[in-house]
Amino acid sequence: MTDQASRLRALAQGQQAPKTYFHGRVVAITSGKGGVGKTNVVAGLAISLARMGQRVVVMDADFGLANLDILLGLSPQYTLEHVLRGEKLLEEILLDGPMGIRIIPASSGIQELTRLDTMAELRLVQGLQRVAETSDWLLIDTAAGIHDSVVKLLMAAQEVILVTTPEPTSLVDAYAMVKVLHLRDPEKEVWLLVNNGQNLDEAEETIGQLQAAVQRFLGKQLKVLGVIPSDPHILQSVRQQHSVADLYPTSPSGQAFQALAKQIKAQVPLQADGIPSFWRNLTTEDS
Ligand SMILES: Nc1ncnc2c1ncn2[C@@H]1O[C@H](COP(=O)(O)OP(=O)(O)OP(=O)(O)O)[C@@H](O)[C@H]1O
Ligand SMILES: [Mg+2]
Repeated sequence: MTDQASRLRALAQGQQAPKTYFHGRVVAITSGKGGVGKTNVVAGLAISLARMGQRVVVMDADFGLANLDILLGLSPQYTLEHVLRGEKLLEEILLDGPMGIRIIPASSGIQELTRLDTMAELRLVQGLQRVAETSDWLLIDTAAGIHDSVVKLLMAAQEVILVTTPEPTSLVDAYAMVKVLHLRDPEKEVWLLVNNGQNLDEAEETIGQLQAAVQRFLGKQLKVLGVIPSDPHILQSVRQQHSVADLYPTSPSGQAFQALAKQIKAQVPLQADGIPSFWRNLTTEDS
């Protein structure tokens, strides 16, 4: 009798306070200008997070030139397009990368994501729900520039990392990206990552210049994530179709990626239902 009563009480309490699920933190990595190191950052960060015991899924959302797979020496047979057409399950297109990271080769299906029919959306959301059960992070490698499909991805993501180099052209394009996101939602926060600087002074100057412009013209402050130094080990790794974080973890950039992974893990909060709500945001965005 008492047993039954306490079981009923426990059940009722369970119903009043449904369990909260944390389905992965969603971070999109982008840049204003192309070729500034996004794909290397995504791979380096993913591998460094995995080395810390985190379960990471990476989505290649660069619909122009898919190069995440090339960087990691993988050759996808199927992409998200096959999932959307109902020919494959999401789990069947996932590729296994270094340190247990998993890759969603999405490039050729990504443009369709904001105008899916009901069946395709259901396939995608159900697949992602299952993948999300076993993921702590979804990292997204986007195309460069302020194309509408990229901006939609960035608006739907929990966090945005904007990569720039110290070059003036990269800085100007990074500012343009911040402005576009700010105009969509003034509350949207952006993390800044300076890549390929010759030294810390140069990187700090870059951060200062961009912060000054963003503050002056948009009344906004970027969150600074860190700096990845210019490092010949990166080119050496790319040539061998590996990430520097995998091949040379103790090189200057390999260590910087470890620091970056620690920083992001500490700073980015867990979000209830993270990956599924990212997809809901993306597929229901109407602007
Ligand atoms: N920190 C660094 N030190 C030295 N070289 C670097 C560094 N970061 C990137 N590179 C070089 O820049 C090249 C471009 O990097 P990556 O492909 O990651 O850029 P991207 O932003 O993804 O380009 P895209 O816009 O074409 O997708 C790399 O192949 C590498 O040679
Ligand atoms: Mg790239």
